[in-house]
Amino acid sequence: MQTEMRVNWFPGHMAKTRRILTERIRLVDAVIEVADARLPKSSRNPDLAKLARDKASALILNKADLADAQETDRWVSFYNKIYNKTTPCIAYDSAHGKVSPLLAVIDTIAKPIVERYKSRGMAKTVRVMVTGIPNVGKSTLINRLAGKMIAQAEDRPGVTRATRWIKISDYLELLDTPGMLMPKIEDTAAGKRLAYVGTIKDGILETEELAEYLLRDLMNLVPSAVLERYHLPSHYADSPSLLELAAIGRGFLLSGGRLNLERAAAVVLDEFRAGVLGRVTLEKAEL
Ligand code: G4P
Repeated sequence: MQTEMRVNWFPGHMAKTRRILTERIRLVDAVIEVADARLPKSSRNPDLAKLARDKASALILNKADLADAQETDRWVSFYNKIYNKTTPCIAYDSAHGKVSPLLAVIDTIAKPIVERYKSRGMAKTVRVMVTGIPNVGKSTLINRLAGKMIAQAEDRPGVTRATRWIKISDYLELLDTPGMLMPKIEDTAAGKRLAYVGTIKDGILETEELAEYLLRDLMNLVPSAVLERYHLPSHYADSPSLLELAAIGRGFLLSGGRLNLERAAAVVLDEFRAGVLGRVTLEKAEL
């Protein structure tokens, strides 16, 4: 088994993505950054703070329904403390949540802009965009704000299309397309965590290797859920492979009795991503 995992991004693609995002940011007054509540640190790209430094901003820890509620509270407090209200942070579940807390936080950052213009006798429409790394729920969140399915696929190199604005309140307009940020992978461990939640597509990393790492990390976080779900035996700690034990436990066998590790790995990853093992936060707040 390899000990180092490699992730390759094409430098040209990265540059193009960044250029598109920079152009998009120029069109708006405010940027809503979406991150994954299970990975409140690694699912953010710190470059955004530089790219959007003159814009109003808010941070949404999305998929909060899949993260540990107490940890999420700690992360929300942590970010609200360090940003001291300049970038309000909330936890959100864009798959099931009501739109009102989301609108309220956007309103909080838009209001000062509207007031500033009002004091000069002008009516201002505040333009807002949603951004974040892949798979954090940007399109789902846009659709929720729009009240219908409108979010377009992210920009692909070479494909351009008209910019469309959706009116979401008397003075707020939302860009219908999310701005794509590349994940910033600070170290191998952060790369793994990003792969666990599906930010980095399977196939770039070896799936069986990834599932093995995930099982080991989950044994530190939610051991009883893992033991129960995959029927691990009591001697699991002595085994070089938890994935093999999980394949045995769940009966994932090929003809001739060989273990179907490919199937076991896919199931482990899918079940974690769907929250089957409970609500898990992979990074602790540094309070
Ligand atoms: P993106 O634009 O940032 O790339 O993400 P997108 O909205 O496409 O969402 C990625 C996946 O995450 C989707 O699932 C979506 O339904 C799910 N999702 C988004 N927000 C939340 C959330 O707050 N909670 C939960 N539990 N899931 C969320 P999918 O499997 O790709 O598609 P589907 O399940 O919608 O069919």
